[in-house]
Amino acid sequence: MGVYAVTGAASGMGKASADRLRAAGHTVIGVDLRDVEVVADLSTPQGRSTAIRQTLELAEGRLDGAVLAAGLGPVPGKEAIIAQVNVRGVIDLLVGWRPALAATGNSKVVVFGSNSTTATPAVPNSAVKAFLAGNLDKGVRCASRISAAAGPFTYAASKIAVTRWARRTAVTEQWAGSGIRLNVLAPGAISTPLLEAQLSGPEAKRVENFPVPIGGYGEAAQIAEWVEFMLSTAANFMVGSVVVVDGGTDAYFRADDW
Ligand code: NAI
Repeated sequence: MGVYAVTGAASGMGKASADRLRAAGHTVIGVDLRDVEVVADLSTPQGRSTAIRQTLELAEGRLDGAVLAAGLGPVPGKEAIIAQVNVRGVIDLLVGWRPALAATGNSKVVVFGSNSTTATPAVPNSAVKAFLAGNLDKGVRCASRISAAAGPFTYAASKIAVTRWARRTAVTEQWAGSGIRLNVLAPGAISTPLLEAQLSGPEAKRVENFPVPIGGYGEAAQIAEWVEFMLSTAANFMVGSVVVVDGGTDAYFRADDW
């Protein structure tokens, strides 16, 4: 049985993943704002340091895997925090945990991306580049040039940035070369508190009208099955991949972009 760090383990898909791993007999170190082993605010550098340090202590320096599910949705007015949690809350933690992931020699990491990375039109590349360069303020400013309601663009740019980071990083000597399989899971609309908040807010119409060919929304428990699969031996030969589980939205928009 393995030891897994799961961020966002108090709610939605992170919680469903943590529950599923525990039910399979694994040890889970949850990281979130409440109700978990490591309580830390990933929107601040201090909170991220706490999350890295306390997780490594609890894991005794060895991790079989990590799931990076903590994140905010495209909430207007929360652009700065979206950038902090969705970008730095993934990259900083993984860089800090890398030695523990390398220590086991065959570890797996699942980063939560989003199908908004391919389904949101006109996300400014300048915002993505700024996020990747570590300049979050500039990234938010670039996303805000498209629209005053910059939440969706900031959100999509944050998820594109972590997806690119994961794919670039996955294939390096320090990661693949150290036996770490780093991959991205990109869900579509999944029924969680994050989606429910969108459906009861000003974005409701946009979300409801978004094309989902199979109909309805996905369930957190279904995504947790994919997470478990991507942490299993089935992923031994999987590196830098993006697994889209979105009811067909990505294919609807981009069938010929393959
Ligand atoms: P959720 O809102 O149910 O859970 C997110 C968790 O992240 C919460 O427990 C929350 O406390 C934690 N979190 C937020 N800010 C934090 C902070 N500053 N420090 C520590 N923890 C913090 O959301 P859901 O839907 O389960 O989302 C999981 C991931 O999947 C997120 O990264 C989200 O962006 C992504 N996603 C969600 C989709 C959806 O339709 N639900 C679609 C595509 C991607």
